[in-house]
Amino acid sequence: MVQRPRRIAVLGSTGSIGCQALDVIRQLPDRFVAVALAGGQNTRLLAAQVAQVRPKYVFAEAESPELAAAVEHVGARFVSMDEMAVVEEADVVLVGTAGRAGLTPTLKALRAGRPVAIANKEVLVMAGHLVRRAMLEGDGELRPVDSEHSAIWQCLWGEEAHEIRRILLTASGGAFRDFDRSQLVRVTAEQALNHPTWKMGAKITIDSATLMNKGMETIEAMWLFGVPMEKVEVVLHRESIVHSLVEFSDGSVKAQLGVPDMRLPIQCALAYPDRMPAPPAPALDLGAIGTLHFGRPDLDRFPALALAMEAGRRGGTFPAAMAAADEVAVERFLAGEIGFLDIPRVIERVLERHDSVDDPDLETVLAADAAARQTARLAAVGAPV
Ligand SMILES: NC(=O)c1ccc[n+]([C@@H]2O[C@H](COP(=O)([O-])OP(=O)(O)OC[C@H]3O[C@@H](n4cnc5c(N)ncnc54)[C@H](OP(=O)(O)O)[C@@H]3O)[C@@H](O)[C@H]2O)c1
Repeated sequence: MVQRPRRIAVLGSTGSIGCQALDVIRQLPDRFVAVALAGGQNTRLLAAQVAQVRPKYVFAEAESPELAAAVEHVGARFVSMDEMAVVEEADVVLVGTAGRAGLTPTLKALRAGRPVAIANKEVLVMAGHLVRRAMLEGDGELRPVDSEHSAIWQCLWGEEAHEIRRILLTASGGAFRDFDRSQLVRVTAEQALNHPTWKMGAKITIDSATLMNKGMETIEAMWLFGVPMEKVEVVLHRESIVHSLVEFSDGSVKAQLGVPDMRLPIQCALAYPDRMPAPPAPALDLGAIGTLHFGRPDLDRFPALALAMEAGRRGGTFPAAMAAADEVAVERFLAGEIGFLDIPRVIERVLERHDSVDDPDLETVLAADAAARQTARLAAVGAPV
């Protein structure tokens, strides 16, 4: 039987994940087709993508005559991201937006029973409990895109979740893994944007350097795989070849390995439950790599990891407040207004001041987000909070 290509809605198509997803889709035209594209401010790139991909639906946060002309030219229609998340024509919704932008589209898609390939980790950090609830309500499905969670997901295929003893999330350690505190005080945004192994958007690259990204991933893992924080550990692994591991109740440990190329986990999430031909890239050559290194993270030099794991453990609105504070602090760091070590300082200050609410609804999560942003802005300029 000839199968029609899977139809993908790509939210965040102008970003690092989105562009790589379009690359995966372009490489396998018999298997995938993009039917909807959503971007934020980069309307020039989005207009070019619309002209090339010819989607049915388009969203952009910003307006531009060039984009409007491209949309009209291909006969597409502007819709909101919430509408895009539930269009009949999409078989899978890829949420590759950054920050809180993907939150309501993810909830809507899951409630409508759409499989969601999720890269937008802040969504799970802010409101993982609501995402899980939406998935159960709609009988929907979450497919991880983050390479570590894709690895864990693949290790769990054919396994029972209650047999998980530990999840071992690997971390490259970011751009400054070998820096001491005196060096960390002086690092610039330009240095921090230069990640040793992964080419990603600016926010996640800075989060990787502070290890906040890894901290968020521990919370992401809790919600994706239904485990408490006590079962999640972080292991440093500088080569980014072992993408993560799962230890089972009998002591057996499974790992997933691969070259560090985000197109592989993106394709895995879009193709599930099938395996499809790999994107054109060098294959894993362990003989050439020779040695793989592992170690423990240093929480004194990288306190953001401990802050995030603690927020995940405490639950309620703590993770949402933490994610919001981090977003503000990273923005300020990128603008050259605060130093690298001020990022965890701002987050810690916000968490100290935060009054958490248990089992928050969406409105409460968004209120916690807004309040934490306000406190973070004050903390970033050294004002009393
Ligand atoms: N990059 C990676 O390798 C990687 C790996 C694992 C997980 N992730 C996660 O995946 C997510 C995306 O990361 P990224 O590196 O691809 O980020 P990115 O390059 O900054 O891209 C973010 C995308 O979201 C869009 N966007 C932002 N705000 C929006 C809004 N309000 N409405 C509509 N679109 C909006 C951006 O549009 P414009 O650019 O047009 O403004 C862009 O398309 C993050 O949560 C990140 O943590 C990324």
